[in-house]
Amino acid sequence: MPYHEPVVLERRELGALILARWLAPELAHAVRPGQALLTRCAPPDSDDPLLRRTLFPAGADPHAGVVEVLLAPEERGLAWLAAQPPGARLDVYGPVGNGFTLAEPTCNLLLAGAGSAVPGLLHLARIAVARGVAVVLLVAATGAEMLPPPFLLPSDVEYLTSATGEADLPALLAATRPGGPTLSRGPLGWADQFCLGLAAHLLPPVVEMVRAGTLRWERGFAQVALPGVMPCGVGACQGCLVETRDGARLGCKDGPVFDLRELRF
Ligand code: FES
Repeated sequence: MPYHEPVVLERRELGALILARWLAPELAHAVRPGQALLTRCAPPDSDDPLLRRTLFPAGADPHAGVVEVLLAPEERGLAWLAAQPPGARLDVYGPVGNGFTLAEPTCNLLLAGAGSAVPGLLHLARIAVARGVAVVLLVAATGAEMLPPPFLLPSDVEYLTSATGEADLPALLAATRPGGPTLSRGPLGWADQFCLGLAAHLLPPVVEMVRAGTLRWERGFAQVALPGVMPCGVGACQGCLVETRDGARLGCKDGPVFDLRELRF
């Protein structure tokens, strides 16, 4: 059963974010970038809030048995979770869903995101760099204190940010020149794979950029991890529906990572 009881090892404040390290050996072995952990965010004697929160881990170390999460305590459930001290025992269901697929021929990986799915991009960046892939990561946030600090990433990652709002991700994409300002190719021309972590309502302008900025508007080029509530995580409640070209799909079973071409806007 994919229920786990991680123990909090460490809790560290990073601006407005909290980095927590959990001891969870089975989970650290199992979880892949872009998979979700449905985490109970209430004490054992309370059902408030009732719904588990959907987290994308920022990293996992199978050898140490440790999972890292980066929390933005913006609402009471995540605030409770972020406040748990070392030694606290948690209640996690997962990993849920498919995760990102890193294609074997990928040499230049572009990552871009905003909001609660960004930690999944950090996780993917770490794994891709270990495989020798060149990685550019773009993150947009509302305020510098909401940006993941660079030390969470391998030094080889080219990391660019905007602190003027999550909706500014398309502008950041348009302004970026991977490899430095002397290269004329935009990031979509540079990349041979593109992975996003972004809420569905922020996707349309990015989709237009992909269509306009590359000839590779093809399945397999761009994937997106969609954050969102997953009430059951097992395909039973229909509470995580995502509209695709083939009809409604379940975020917890068919996602949370979808090919960008499959989504309907
Ligand atoms: S979370 Fe219940 S069906 Fe997906």
